[in-house]
Amino acid sequence: MSDLSRLLKESWSLVEEQQDKLASYFYARMFLNQPQLRDLFPVQMDVQRSRLLGAIVTAVQTVDDPDTFDEYLRSLGRDHRKFHVRPEHYDVIREALLEGLRTFAGDQWTYEFDQAWRDAYAVIAEKMIAGAEADSTNPPYWHAEVLYHERRNQDIAVITCRPLQPLEYRAGQYISVECKYQPRLWRVYSAANAPRKDGSIDFHVRAVGAGWVSSALVRKVQPGDMIRLGAPMGSMVLDRRSTRDIVCVAGGTGFAPIKALIEEMTRANRTRWVHVFVGARNRDDLYDLACLNRLAARYPWLSVVAATTDDPDFPGEHGRISDVVARYGPWNDHDFFVSGSPQMVRSTLRTLAEMQVPAIRIKYDAFGDS
Ligand SMILES: Cc1cc2nc3c(=O)[nH]c(=O)nc-3n(C[C@H](O)[C@H](O)[C@H](O)COP(=O)(O)OP(=O)(O)OC[C@H]3O[C@@H](n4cnc5c(N)ncnc54)[C@H](O)[C@@H]3O)c2cc1C
Ligand code: HEM
Repeated sequence: MSDLSRLLKESWSLVEEQQDKLASYFYARMFLNQPQLRDLFPVQMDVQRSRLLGAIVTAVQTVDDPDTFDEYLRSLGRDHRKFHVRPEHYDVIREALLEGLRTFAGDQWTYEFDQAWRDAYAVIAEKMIAGAEADSTNPPYWHAEVLYHERRNQDIAVITCRPLQPLEYRAGQYISVECKYQPRLWRVYSAANAPRKDGSIDFHVRAVGAGWVSSALVRKVQPGDMIRLGAPMGSMVLDRRSTRDIVCVAGGTGFAPIKALIEEMTRANRTRWVHVFVGARNRDDLYDLACLNRLAARYPWLSVVAATTDDPDFPGEHGRISDVVARYGPWNDHDFFVSGSPQMVRSTLRTLAEMQVPAIRIKYDAFGDS
Protein backbone atom coordinates (compact mmCIF):
# COMPACT_ATOMS: atom_id res chain seq x y z
CA MET A 1 0.00 0.00 0.00
CA SER A 2 1.42 3.41 -0.93
CA ASP A 3 1.80 6.24 1.59
CA LEU A 4 -1.00 8.11 -0.16
CA SER A 5 -3.34 5.16 0.12
CA ARG A 6 -2.45 4.63 3.79
CA LEU A 7 -3.14 8.30 4.57
CA LEU A 8 -6.50 8.16 2.79
CA LYS A 9 -7.63 5.04 4.62
CA GLU A 10 -6.38 6.27 8.00
CA SER A 11 -8.13 9.63 7.62
CA TRP A 12 -11.35 8.04 6.33
CA SER A 13 -11.50 5.82 9.42
CA LEU A 14 -11.81 9.01 11.52
CA VAL A 15 -15.12 9.94 9.89
CA GLU A 16 -16.45 6.65 8.58
CA GLU A 17 -18.97 6.13 11.35
CA GLN A 18 -20.45 9.58 10.75
CA GLN A 19 -20.95 9.10 7.02
CA ASP A 20 -24.60 10.12 7.02
CA LYS A 21 -23.92 13.38 8.82
CA LEU A 22 -20.91 13.99 6.62
CA ALA A 23 -23.10 13.54 3.53
CA SER A 24 -25.67 16.08 4.77
CA TYR A 25 -22.92 18.52 5.63
CA PHE A 26 -21.21 18.00 2.27
CA TYR A 27 -24.36 18.80 0.28
CA ALA A 28 -25.27 21.74 2.53
CA ARG A 29 -21.78 23.22 2.05
CA MET A 30 -21.87 22.66 -1.68
CA PHE A 31 -25.29 24.28 -2.15
CA LEU A 32 -24.38 27.15 0.18
CA ASN A 33 -21.13 27.85 -1.67
CA GLN A 34 -22.75 27.53 -5.11
CA PRO A 35 -26.57 27.69 -4.89
CA GLN A 36 -26.93 27.23 -8.66
CA LEU A 37 -25.53 23.69 -8.34
CA ARG A 38 -28.77 22.65 -6.61
CA ASP A 39 -30.45 22.59 -10.03
CA LEU A 40 -28.17 19.79 -11.18
CA PHE A 41 -29.43 17.42 -8.49
CA PRO A 42 -32.72 15.51 -8.18
CA VAL A 43 -35.76 17.50 -7.12
CA GLN A 44 -36.48 15.39 -4.05
CA MET A 45 -33.04 14.66 -2.82
CA ASP A 46 -32.45 11.83 -0.41
CA VAL A 47 -28.95 12.76 0.73
CA GLN A 48 -28.21 9.39 2.32
CA ARG A 49 -29.06 7.56 -0.88
CA SER A 50 -27.34 9.97 -3.20
CA ARG A 51 -24.56 8.23 -5.03
CA LEU A 52 -22.19 11.12 -5.49
CA LEU A 53 -20.38 11.35 -2.15
CA GLY A 54 -20.00 7.56 -1.79
CA ALA A 55 -18.69 7.39 -5.34
CA ILE A 56 -16.10 10.08 -4.74
CA VAL A 57 -14.86 8.45 -1.55
CA THR A 58 -14.57 5.06 -3.29
CA ALA A 59 -12.86 6.59 -6.33
CA VAL A 60 -10.36 8.50 -4.21
CA GLN A 61 -9.48 5.36 -2.29
CA THR A 62 -8.71 3.43 -5.47
CA VAL A 63 -6.00 5.89 -6.37
CA ASP A 64 -3.35 3.16 -6.04
CA ASP A 65 -4.77 1.39 -9.07
CA PRO A 66 -5.26 4.17 -11.62
CA ASP A 67 -4.83 1.98 -14.68
CA THR A 68 -7.75 -0.28 -13.79
CA PHE A 69 -10.01 2.71 -13.26
CA ASP A 70 -8.74 4.89 -16.04
CA GLU A 71 -11.36 3.88 -18.58
CA TYR A 72 -14.10 3.85 -15.94
CA LEU A 73 -13.27 7.40 -14.81
CA ARG A 74 -13.13 8.69 -18.36
CA SER A 75 -16.53 7.27 -19.16
CA LEU A 76 -17.88 8.52 -15.82
CA GLY A 77 -16.71 12.02 -16.75
CA ARG A 78 -18.32 11.64 -20.13
CA ASP A 79 -21.51 10.38 -18.47
CA HIS A 80 -21.48 13.43 -16.13
CA ARG A 81 -22.12 15.65 -19.12
CA LYS A 82 -25.76 14.63 -18.68
CA PHE A 83 -25.74 16.46 -15.30
CA HIS A 84 -24.36 19.62 -17.01
CA VAL A 85 -21.18 19.31 -14.93
CA ARG A 86 -18.44 21.77 -15.91
CA PRO A 87 -14.72 21.61 -15.01
CA GLU A 88 -15.00 24.41 -12.41
CA HIS A 89 -17.62 22.40 -10.49
CA TYR A 90 -14.93 19.90 -9.53
CA ASP A 91 -13.28 22.57 -7.34
CA VAL A 92 -16.56 23.30 -5.56
CA ILE A 93 -17.07 19.61 -4.80
CA ARG A 94 -13.48 19.21 -3.60
CA GLU A 95 -13.79 22.10 -1.16
CA ALA A 96 -17.16 20.87 0.18
CA LEU A 97 -15.65 17.41 0.63
CA LEU A 98 -12.58 18.71 2.47
CA GLU A 99 -14.64 20.99 4.69
CA GLY A 100 -16.80 17.99 5.60
CA LEU A 101 -13.83 15.75 6.35
CA ARG A 102 -12.11 18.44 8.44
CA THR A 103 -15.25 19.17 10.40
CA PHE A 104 -16.05 15.56 11.30
CA ALA A 105 -12.46 14.46 11.97
CA GLY A 106 -12.00 17.45 14.31
CA ASP A 107 -8.63 17.79 16.05
CA GLN A 108 -7.32 14.61 14.52
CA TRP A 109 -7.31 16.06 10.99
CA THR A 110 -3.78 16.90 9.81
CA TYR A 111 -2.20 18.84 6.98
CA GLU A 112 -0.94 15.53 5.55
CA PHE A 113 -4.47 14.11 5.41
CA ASP A 114 -5.69 17.25 3.69
CA GLN A 115 -2.97 17.05 1.06
CA ALA A 116 -3.57 13.32 0.47
CA TRP A 117 -7.27 13.92 -0.36
CA ARG A 118 -6.39 16.86 -2.59
CA ASP A 119 -3.79 14.82 -4.50
CA ALA A 120 -6.05 11.80 -4.97
CA TYR A 121 -9.05 13.93 -5.94
CA ALA A 122 -6.94 15.81 -8.50
CA VAL A 123 -6.04 12.53 -10.25
CA ILE A 124 -9.69 11.44 -10.42
CA ALA A 125 -11.05 14.83 -11.49
CA GLU A 126 -8.42 15.18 -14.19
CA LYS A 127 -9.42 11.88 -15.79
CA MET A 128 -13.15 12.68 -15.59
CA ILE A 129 -12.67 16.13 -17.11
CA ALA A 130 -10.51 14.66 -19.88
CA GLY A 131 -13.20 12.03 -20.57
CA ALA A 132 -15.87 14.73 -20.87
CA GLU A 133 -13.72 16.93 -23.12
CA ALA A 134 -12.86 14.06 -25.47
CA ASP A 135 -16.59 13.46 -25.97
CA SER A 136 -17.53 16.94 -27.10
CA THR A 137 -18.76 15.76 -30.51
CA ASN A 138 -21.58 13.79 -28.85
CA PRO A 139 -24.59 15.41 -27.18
CA PRO A 140 -24.48 15.50 -23.33
CA TYR A 141 -27.48 13.16 -23.40
CA TRP A 142 -29.82 11.68 -25.97
CA HIS A 143 -33.58 12.21 -26.26
CA ALA A 144 -35.29 8.94 -27.10
CA GLU A 145 -38.88 8.06 -27.91
CA VAL A 146 -40.48 5.06 -26.26
CA LEU A 147 -41.79 2.85 -29.07
CA TYR A 148 -43.05 -0.17 -27.15
CA HIS A 149 -43.71 -0.91 -23.51
CA GLU A 150 -44.55 -4.51 -22.72
CA ARG A 151 -45.35 -5.70 -19.20
CA ARG A 152 -44.00 -9.24 -18.92
CA ASN A 153 -45.30 -9.72 -15.39
CA GLN A 154 -46.29 -7.72 -12.31
CA ASP A 155 -42.79 -6.21 -11.89
CA ILE A 156 -40.97 -6.53 -15.19
CA ALA A 157 -41.32 -4.52 -18.39
CA VAL A 158 -39.45 -4.65 -21.68
CA ILE A 159 -39.13 -1.15 -23.08
CA THR A 160 -38.02 -0.33 -26.61
CA CYS A 161 -36.94 3.22 -27.38
CA ARG A 162 -35.26 5.01 -30.24
CA PRO A 163 -32.75 7.84 -29.68
CA LEU A 164 -33.34 10.83 -31.96
CA GLN A 165 -29.60 11.04 -32.65
CA PRO A 166 -27.30 8.04 -33.17
CA LEU A 167 -26.11 6.55 -29.86
CA GLU A 168 -23.20 4.18 -30.30
CA TYR A 169 -22.68 1.43 -27.76
CA ARG A 170 -21.45 -2.14 -27.57
CA ALA A 171 -23.45 -5.22 -26.61
CA GLY A 172 -23.04 -5.75 -22.85
CA GLN A 173 -22.86 -2.04 -21.97
CA TYR A 174 -25.31 -0.08 -19.82
CA ILE A 175 -26.85 3.32 -20.29
CA SER A 176 -28.32 5.74 -17.77
CA VAL A 177 -31.97 6.56 -18.16
CA GLU A 178 -34.15 9.41 -16.91
CA CYS A 179 -37.91 9.79 -17.39
CA LYS A 180 -40.28 12.71 -16.88
CA TYR A 181 -41.97 11.01 -13.94
CA GLN A 182 -38.74 11.25 -11.87
CA PRO A 183 -36.91 14.29 -13.24
CA ARG A 184 -33.14 14.44 -12.75
CA LEU A 185 -33.04 10.94 -11.25
CA TRP A 186 -30.87 8.79 -13.45
CA ARG A 187 -30.39 5.04 -13.12
CA VAL A 188 -28.42 2.72 -15.35
CA TYR A 189 -29.98 -0.13 -17.34
CA SER A 190 -28.22 -2.59 -19.62
CA ALA A 191 -29.04 -2.48 -23.30
CA ALA A 192 -30.77 -5.79 -24.02
CA ASN A 193 -29.89 -5.97 -27.72
CA ALA A 194 -26.83 -5.66 -29.91
CA PRO A 195 -26.83 -2.36 -31.85
CA ARG A 196 -29.49 -2.36 -34.57
CA LYS A 197 -29.62 -0.60 -37.90
CA ASP A 198 -32.67 1.43 -36.84
CA GLY A 199 -30.87 2.50 -33.62
CA SER A 200 -33.62 1.23 -31.30
CA ILE A 201 -32.62 -0.07 -27.86
CA ASP A 202 -34.44 -2.48 -25.54
CA PHE A 203 -34.28 -2.33 -21.74
CA HIS A 204 -35.49 -5.04 -19.35
CA VAL A 205 -36.56 -3.28 -16.18
CA ARG A 206 -37.65 -4.79 -12.88
CA ALA A 207 -39.52 -2.51 -10.46
CA VAL A 208 -37.75 -2.95 -7.12
CA GLY A 209 -39.47 -2.38 -3.76
CA ALA A 210 -39.70 1.35 -3.17
CA GLY A 211 -37.57 2.02 -6.24
CA TRP A 212 -38.19 5.44 -7.73
CA VAL A 213 -36.96 5.14 -11.27
CA SER A 214 -37.60 1.44 -11.88
CA SER A 215 -41.23 1.75 -10.69
CA ALA A 216 -41.82 4.70 -13.00
CA LEU A 217 -40.27 2.87 -15.94
CA VAL A 218 -42.37 -0.24 -15.35
CA ARG A 219 -45.66 1.31 -14.21
CA LYS A 220 -45.90 4.79 -15.76
CA VAL A 221 -43.88 5.09 -18.93
CA GLN A 222 -45.84 4.44 -22.11
CA PRO A 223 -45.27 4.47 -25.88
CA GLY A 224 -44.86 8.01 -27.17
CA ASP A 225 -43.13 9.24 -23.98
CA MET A 226 -39.73 10.84 -24.38
CA ILE A 227 -36.95 9.63 -22.10
CA ARG A 228 -33.33 10.75 -21.82
CA LEU A 229 -30.30 8.49 -22.15
CA GLY A 230 -26.73 9.09 -20.97
CA ALA A 231 -23.48 7.96 -22.55
CA PRO A 232 -22.97 4.17 -22.60
CA MET A 233 -20.68 2.71 -19.96
CA GLY A 234 -19.28 -0.64 -18.90
CA SER A 235 -16.70 -3.13 -20.03
CA MET A 236 -18.68 -6.38 -20.00
CA VAL A 237 -18.21 -6.70 -23.74
CA LEU A 238 -17.14 -9.55 -25.97
CA ASP A 239 -13.43 -10.02 -26.55
CA ARG A 240 -13.57 -10.78 -30.25
CA ARG A 241 -9.99 -12.06 -30.26
CA SER A 242 -10.72 -14.80 -27.73
CA THR A 243 -11.39 -18.27 -29.08
CA ARG A 244 -12.50 -19.73 -25.75
CA ASP A 245 -16.00 -21.11 -25.27
CA ILE A 246 -18.33 -18.97 -23.21
CA VAL A 247 -20.47 -19.36 -20.10
CA CYS A 248 -23.11 -16.70 -19.36
CA VAL A 249 -24.79 -16.59 -15.96
CA ALA A 250 -27.81 -14.32 -15.52
CA GLY A 251 -30.19 -13.65 -12.64
CA GLY A 252 -33.56 -11.95 -13.30
CA THR A 253 -33.22 -8.86 -15.49
CA GLY A 254 -29.49 -9.58 -15.44
CA PHE A 255 -30.43 -11.42 -18.61
CA ALA A 256 -30.56 -8.08 -20.49
CA PRO A 257 -26.83 -7.64 -21.25
CA ILE A 258 -26.44 -11.40 -21.79
CA LYS A 259 -29.13 -11.27 -24.44
CA ALA A 260 -27.29 -8.40 -26.14
CA LEU A 261 -24.07 -10.45 -26.11
CA ILE A 262 -25.84 -13.50 -27.54
CA GLU A 263 -27.33 -11.32 -30.30
CA GLU A 264 -23.87 -10.03 -31.14
CA MET A 265 -22.64 -13.60 -31.39
CA THR A 266 -25.48 -14.59 -33.68
CA ARG A 267 -23.94 -12.20 -36.21
CA ALA A 268 -20.42 -13.61 -36.23
CA ASN A 269 -19.93 -16.68 -34.05
CA ARG A 270 -19.38 -20.03 -35.72
CA THR A 271 -16.80 -21.65 -33.50
CA ARG A 272 -17.43 -20.91 -29.81
CA TRP A 273 -19.87 -22.93 -27.69
CA VAL A 274 -22.02 -20.66 -25.58
CA HIS A 275 -23.68 -22.03 -22.43
CA VAL A 276 -26.32 -19.77 -20.91
CA PHE A 277 -27.59 -20.22 -17.34
CA VAL A 278 -30.59 -18.12 -16.33
CA GLY A 279 -32.02 -18.09 -12.84
CA ALA A 280 -35.01 -16.48 -11.16
CA ARG A 281 -37.30 -17.04 -8.21
CA ASN A 282 -40.13 -18.55 -10.29
CA ARG A 283 -41.09 -19.20 -13.91
CA ASP A 284 -42.94 -15.92 -14.08
CA ASP A 285 -39.67 -14.09 -13.48
CA LEU A 286 -38.02 -16.00 -16.35
CA TYR A 287 -39.71 -13.38 -18.49
CA ASP A 288 -37.70 -13.96 -21.69
CA LEU A 289 -37.09 -17.69 -21.59
CA ALA A 290 -39.28 -18.38 -24.65
CA CYS A 291 -37.15 -16.07 -26.77
CA LEU A 292 -33.93 -17.58 -25.40
CA ASN A 293 -35.17 -21.08 -26.20
CA ARG A 294 -36.00 -19.98 -29.75
CA LEU A 295 -32.45 -18.70 -30.18
CA ALA A 296 -31.05 -21.98 -28.83
CA ALA A 297 -33.21 -23.93 -31.31
CA ARG A 298 -31.82 -21.84 -34.15
CA TYR A 299 -28.11 -21.67 -33.25
CA PRO A 300 -26.43 -25.04 -32.61
CA TRP A 301 -23.59 -23.46 -30.60
CA LEU A 302 -26.03 -22.10 -27.99
CA SER A 303 -27.34 -24.11 -25.01
CA VAL A 304 -29.69 -22.91 -22.27
CA VAL A 305 -30.25 -24.04 -18.70
CA ALA A 306 -32.98 -22.33 -16.68
CA ALA A 307 -33.40 -22.66 -12.92
CA THR A 308 -35.76 -21.38 -10.24
CA THR A 309 -35.31 -21.14 -6.49
CA ASP A 310 -38.95 -20.95 -5.34
CA ASP A 311 -40.97 -22.86 -7.93
CA PRO A 312 -41.01 -26.59 -7.04
CA ASP A 313 -42.98 -27.62 -10.15
CA PHE A 314 -40.78 -25.74 -12.60
CA PRO A 315 -39.74 -28.12 -15.41
CA GLY A 316 -36.05 -27.26 -15.29
CA GLU A 317 -33.28 -26.98 -12.73
CA HIS A 318 -33.85 -26.00 -9.12
CA GLY A 319 -31.68 -24.01 -6.75
CA ARG A 320 -29.42 -20.99 -6.90
CA ILE A 321 -28.05 -20.39 -10.36
CA SER A 322 -24.48 -20.36 -9.02
CA ASP A 323 -24.96 -23.90 -7.65
CA VAL A 324 -26.48 -25.04 -10.95
CA VAL A 325 -23.46 -23.67 -12.85
CA ALA A 326 -21.19 -25.63 -10.51
CA ARG A 327 -23.19 -28.84 -11.09
CA TYR A 328 -22.74 -28.53 -14.86
CA GLY A 329 -18.98 -27.90 -14.59
CA PRO A 330 -16.05 -28.22 -14.67
CA TRP A 331 -15.50 -25.13 -16.79
CA ASN A 332 -11.90 -25.20 -17.79
CA ASP A 333 -10.77 -22.60 -20.21
CA HIS A 334 -14.03 -20.66 -20.65
CA ASP A 335 -14.77 -16.93 -20.75
CA PHE A 336 -17.48 -15.97 -18.24
CA PHE A 337 -20.11 -13.23 -18.24
CA VAL A 338 -22.11 -12.79 -15.04
CA SER A 339 -24.95 -10.34 -14.49
CA GLY A 340 -27.70 -9.87 -11.92
CA SER A 341 -28.34 -8.71 -8.37
CA PRO A 342 -25.30 -8.08 -6.14
CA GLN A 343 -26.08 -11.24 -4.12
CA MET A 344 -26.38 -13.40 -7.23
CA VAL A 345 -23.16 -12.00 -8.69
CA ARG A 346 -21.31 -12.44 -5.38
CA SER A 347 -22.34 -16.08 -5.00
CA THR A 348 -21.48 -16.85 -8.63
CA LEU A 349 -18.03 -15.25 -8.30
CA ARG A 350 -17.47 -17.29 -5.12
CA THR A 351 -18.45 -20.51 -6.93
CA LEU A 352 -16.17 -19.70 -9.87
CA ALA A 353 -13.28 -18.97 -7.51
CA GLU A 354 -13.85 -22.36 -5.85
CA MET A 355 -13.79 -23.93 -9.32
CA GLN A 356 -10.44 -22.20 -9.88
CA VAL A 357 -11.63 -20.08 -12.78
CA PRO A 358 -9.03 -17.31 -13.17
CA ALA A 359 -10.55 -13.91 -12.33
CA ILE A 360 -9.17 -12.46 -15.56
CA ARG A 361 -11.60 -14.61 -17.56
CA ILE A 362 -14.68 -13.29 -15.73
CA LYS A 363 -16.55 -10.13 -16.67
CA TYR A 364 -19.49 -9.14 -14.53
CA ASP A 365 -22.03 -6.43 -13.74
CA ALA A 366 -23.79 -6.31 -10.39
CA PHE A 367 -27.10 -4.43 -10.47
CA GLY A 368 -26.41 -2.45 -7.31
CA ASP A 369 -23.75 -1.82 -4.71
CA SER A 370 -21.72 -4.96 -4.40
C1 LIG B 1 -24.30 -1.84 -14.19
C2 LIG B 1 -25.77 -1.89 -13.84
C3 LIG B 1 -26.69 -2.34 -14.77
C4 LIG B 1 -28.04 -2.42 -14.43
N1 LIG B 1 -28.91 -2.91 -15.35
C5 LIG B 1 -30.21 -3.10 -14.99
C6 LIG B 1 -31.14 -3.70 -15.92
O1 LIG B 1 -30.81 -4.02 -17.07
N2 LIG B 1 -32.40 -3.91 -15.49
C7 LIG B 1 -32.82 -3.57 -14.22
O2 LIG B 1 -34.00 -3.80 -13.89
N3 LIG B 1 -31.96 -2.96 -13.35
C8 LIG B 1 -30.69 -2.71 -13.71
N4 LIG B 1 -29.83 -2.12 -12.82
C9 LIG B 1 -30.35 -1.60 -11.53
C10 LIG B 1 -30.85 -0.14 -11.74
O3 LIG B 1 -29.77 0.69 -12.09
C11 LIG B 1 -31.47 0.47 -10.47
O4 LIG B 1 -30.55 0.37 -9.41
C12 LIG B 1 -32.75 -0.22 -10.06
O5 LIG B 1 -33.68 -0.15 -11.13
C13 LIG B 1 -33.35 0.48 -8.82
O6 LIG B 1 -33.51 1.86 -9.09
P1 LIG B 1 -34.70 2.69 -8.41
O7 LIG B 1 -34.50 4.12 -8.64
O8 LIG B 1 -35.99 2.13 -8.80
O9 LIG B 1 -34.48 2.33 -6.87
P2 LIG B 1 -33.86 3.27 -5.76
O10 LIG B 1 -34.84 4.37 -5.51
O11 LIG B 1 -32.46 3.62 -6.12
O12 LIG B 1 -33.85 2.27 -4.55
C14 LIG B 1 -35.04 1.99 -3.81
C15 LIG B 1 -34.80 0.90 -2.78
O13 LIG B 1 -34.65 -0.34 -3.45
C16 LIG B 1 -33.41 -0.94 -3.10
N5 LIG B 1 -32.90 -1.56 -4.32
C17 LIG B 1 -32.25 -0.94 -5.34
N6 LIG B 1 -31.94 -1.82 -6.32
C18 LIG B 1 -32.44 -3.01 -5.91
C19 LIG B 1 -32.46 -4.31 -6.48
N7 LIG B 1 -31.91 -4.56 -7.69
N8 LIG B 1 -33.06 -5.31 -5.80
C20 LIG B 1 -33.62 -5.08 -4.59
N9 LIG B 1 -33.63 -3.87 -3.98
C21 LIG B 1 -33.05 -2.86 -4.63
C22 LIG B 1 -32.53 0.19 -2.63
O14 LIG B 1 -31.56 -0.27 -1.70
C23 LIG B 1 -33.52 1.12 -1.98
O15 LIG B 1 -33.76 0.75 -0.66
C24 LIG B 1 -28.48 -2.01 -13.15
C25 LIG B 1 -27.55 -1.52 -12.22
C26 LIG B 1 -26.22 -1.46 -12.55
C27 LIG B 1 -25.24 -0.93 -11.55
C1 HEM C 1 -14.24 13.01 -8.20
C2 HEM C 1 -15.29 13.46 -8.85
C3 HEM C 1 -16.61 12.74 -9.01
C4 HEM C 1 -16.93 11.40 -8.95
C5 HEM C 1 -16.00 10.22 -8.70
C6 HEM C 1 -18.35 11.30 -9.20
C7 HEM C 1 -19.06 10.10 -9.26
C8 HEM C 1 -20.43 10.00 -9.36
C9 HEM C 1 -21.18 8.77 -9.49
C10 HEM C 1 -20.58 7.37 -9.62
C11 HEM C 1 -22.48 9.08 -9.51
C12 HEM C 1 -23.67 8.12 -9.67
C13 HEM C 1 -23.87 7.98 -11.16
C14 HEM C 1 -25.28 7.97 -11.58
O1 HEM C 1 -26.19 7.83 -10.75
O2 HEM C 1 -25.50 8.12 -12.82
C15 HEM C 1 -22.58 10.52 -9.43
C16 HEM C 1 -23.77 11.21 -9.43
C17 HEM C 1 -23.83 12.58 -9.56
N1 HEM C 1 -22.78 13.45 -9.70
FE1 HEM C 1 -20.84 13.01 -9.63
N2 HEM C 1 -18.87 12.54 -9.39
C18 HEM C 1 -17.84 13.46 -9.30
C19 HEM C 1 -17.93 14.81 -9.46
C20 HEM C 1 -19.09 15.51 -9.68
C21 HEM C 1 -19.18 16.93 -9.88
C22 HEM C 1 -18.00 17.91 -9.92
C23 HEM C 1 -20.50 17.24 -10.02
C24 HEM C 1 -21.09 18.61 -10.24
C25 HEM C 1 -21.66 19.26 -9.32
C26 HEM C 1 -21.24 15.99 -9.92
C27 HEM C 1 -22.60 15.87 -10.01
C28 HEM C 1 -23.30 14.72 -9.85
C29 HEM C 1 -24.76 14.63 -9.82
C30 HEM C 1 -25.74 15.80 -9.98
C31 HEM C 1 -25.08 13.30 -9.61
C32 HEM C 1 -26.49 12.68 -9.46
C33 HEM C 1 -26.88 12.86 -8.03
C34 HEM C 1 -27.49 11.69 -7.37
O3 HEM C 1 -27.50 10.56 -7.93
O4 HEM C 1 -27.94 11.90 -6.26
N3 HEM C 1 -20.35 14.97 -9.73
N4 HEM C 1 -21.31 11.05 -9.35
